[in-house]
Amino acid sequence: MTGMAVTIGDLKLRGPVLAASGTFGYGTEVPLLERRALGAMVSKGIFLRPRRGTAPPRIVETPSGMLNAIGLQGPGADALIRDYAPLWADWDFPVLVNINGESASEYGELAARLDGVPGISGFEINISCPNVEQGGLYFGNDPRAAAAVTEAVRKRTTLPVWVKLTPMVSDIGVIARAVESAGADALCAINTLVGMSIDLNAGRPRLSFRTGGLSGPAIRPLAVYLAHQAARAVNIPVIGIGGIARAEDALEFLVAGCAAVQVGTATFVNPRAIADVHDGIAAYLKAKGLGSPADLPRHLPKD
Ligand SMILES: Cc1cc2nc3c(=O)[nH]c(=O)nc-3n(C[C@H](O)[C@H](O)[C@H](O)COP(=O)(O)O)c2cc1C
Repeated sequence: MTGMAVTIGDLKLRGPVLAASGTFGYGTEVPLLERRALGAMVSKGIFLRPRRGTAPPRIVETPSGMLNAIGLQGPGADALIRDYAPLWADWDFPVLVNINGESASEYGELAARLDGVPGISGFEINISCPNVEQGGLYFGNDPRAAAAVTEAVRKRTTLPVWVKLTPMVSDIGVIARAVESAGADALCAINTLVGMSIDLNAGRPRLSFRTGGLSGPAIRPLAVYLAHQAARAVNIPVIGIGGIARAEDALEFLVAGCAAVQVGTATFVNPRAIADVHDGIAAYLKAKGLGSPADLPRHLPKD
């Protein structure tokens, strides 16, 4: 019999397909969707305090992917605990909170504030957002800074700690190893790439922030490669992200060495994307006579 359950560190998930941060909000629409297919949800990124984010326009579609510069708009920890965590506590799948900060200690403080709140099952540390002036990419680019943030969070919680990596580095393996040594339970790869689109009539960038994070199918081959490189570098699970719209896309990440995947931009185009990807993986495993996603052949040669 084919089962879809996967294990990420100590966290058992009923399926390998997760909702990616920022593309599922705080999950308030989840009751309208097919939640049976959700392995877990990662909430929209928050900081300790409320943030307004960047001015509109904040989203631009290009012929080969979407650019966004939301700037991590969010309600802050207190409102998240009050308004959203109680909803999550009733759900039959875990919710991880995507956490952000302007310093390692601010990340740690946020984790401590959210630790033990019913409804919050873990953290995804965002050290890879290109759309904020402070924090974001700075931490994801430098192995020492990435490790310091991971350690600051690890010290303040016993919940699972995942770290989301940026593709904007020369060697993702170096960052992956630094974060693993600092106590991460899993890695998520990748966040968006920095991109830009110009309005020729106006003679200026289409996004008010000038640049934005590129997501969608355009980034998938790069994402598969980088998730594979990260998985080769570490012994903790890697969750693949980037341009997944169909089961075949997700299977590429799994065979490249990932233990699970997240689906983001595709949900904007097809609200059933997560269910379609989940069901397609199940059908593939069955057709191949495999018992679970972990039985897929892994292509993980170590150097
Ligand atoms: C509108 C939007 C908002 C996002 N917000 C966040 C965020 O708050 N934190 C984060 O770590 N990633 C955020 N992301 C990145 C996604 O989680 C994901 O890593 C990226 O979009 C690549 O996957 P995809 O091609 O399936 O969308 C956001 C992406 C989009 C499109």
